[in-house]
Amino acid sequence: MAKLLITNIGLLATPAGREAKAGAAQGDILKLENAWILAEDGVILEVGTGEPPMTEPGNGFEILDAGGRLVTPGLVDAHTHLVFGGFRQHELADKLRGKTYLEILAAGGGILSTLKATRAASEAQLTAKALAALREMLSFGVTLCEAKSGYGLSLEEELKQLRVVRNLQGTQPAELVSTFLGAHAFPPEYKEDHEGYVRLICEEMIPAVAAAGLAEYCDVFCETGVFTMEESRRILECGLAHGLKAKIHADEIDALGGAQLAGELGAVSAEHLIAVTEKGIESMAKGGTIACLLPATSFYLGADYAPARKFIEAGVPVALATDYNPGSCPSLNLQLVMNLACLKDRMTPEEVLTAVTLNGAAAVGRAATHGSLEAGKRADLVIWNAADLDFICYRFGSNLVRTVVKGGVPV
Ligand code: NIG
Ligand code: FE
Repeated sequence: MAKLLITNIGLLATPAGREAKAGAAQGDILKLENAWILAEDGVILEVGTGEPPMTEPGNGFEILDAGGRLVTPGLVDAHTHLVFGGFRQHELADKLRGKTYLEILAAGGGILSTLKATRAASEAQLTAKALAALREMLSFGVTLCEAKSGYGLSLEEELKQLRVVRNLQGTQPAELVSTFLGAHAFPPEYKEDHEGYVRLICEEMIPAVAAAGLAEYCDVFCETGVFTMEESRRILECGLAHGLKAKIHADEIDALGGAQLAGELGAVSAEHLIAVTEKGIESMAKGGTIACLLPATSFYLGADYAPARKFIEAGVPVALATDYNPGSCPSLNLQLVMNLACLKDRMTPEEVLTAVTLNGAAAVGRAATHGSLEAGKRADLVIWNAADLDFICYRFGSNLVRTVVKGGVPV
């Protein structure tokens, strides 16, 4: 049996509990000085302070000395478009000349350019590329990560992308949660037949994805020029009927009302939310929907930042994620997201920690097992080159991870 004892933890900082934290509770972080963690078979047995239980070598324990550093739960990136072909650096020049994200998409670039590169790539090529990204994420402290499809946009190509996510599960240390995002854009074949594509999603793609067990969530890009409110509702309701829980790219650029829809449907999370209205926030609070905010996307698009404080005041749990994708956030650095969340979303370091651990885990349905350091949870954690939480939210631009432990194993 694999046992791990982490000793000499200068400061252990973690949210506590098995569900998302909202309001004032989002900032409640347990802070233990001079702490230790005992894990067995990938699960935390005990967390304590002072003298650790067994420090004699030869007891079958691997002992990891944290050197007086900060330890937190492993980070959770609850919104990524992990699997895609190519990159889109050629759009940077257009962007600098003032073209907007939706203008680039309407001209056949954007998501549609990545669609071509993704369709052209084999499953093995996509797997190798996503694996490299996951390894980089892990190096930044991410131990659990959501991954969306959405660059295939045909039955076969969406299944191919989702199989890539499945291929990566268990073959490398990070854990994955899979989301079907067939409603990411209208593919060229259906440019003039939106109804036909929505029917393809509802009648063929969702049933096939659900039957193959290839996704837990169904997501929609509800936005001007992409999926309307009505189309989004149909697709998400169809997903729910097939056992796929709902997520939604909502009110990112225009306030179409995606947040209201999320609350009404009891969606697990609504994402982006830069343009969210008071009504949308109210609806999410009622529906128990988590606000998944993506400040690195605001940074790259030169857009406003989502009103994190309003969500916290309204009792909506806030998660933070990268949105890693080739168009609106070509960064997978969740530490940078933490910095931006403090500086731009005006969240405290304590609220940020909950957002990238327990609330992120809740946004992917894993709060019962992941996202905090307490007995019974997965031994996923980060030892930081830092003495306290403020330091990692303040010192942006460096990777401050010293060691990542995944399932009780230093990786
Ligand atoms: O979350 N908003 C829609 N989807 C992605 C961008 C995808 C892309 O541009 O390739 C996002 O920002
Ligand atoms: Fe996204």
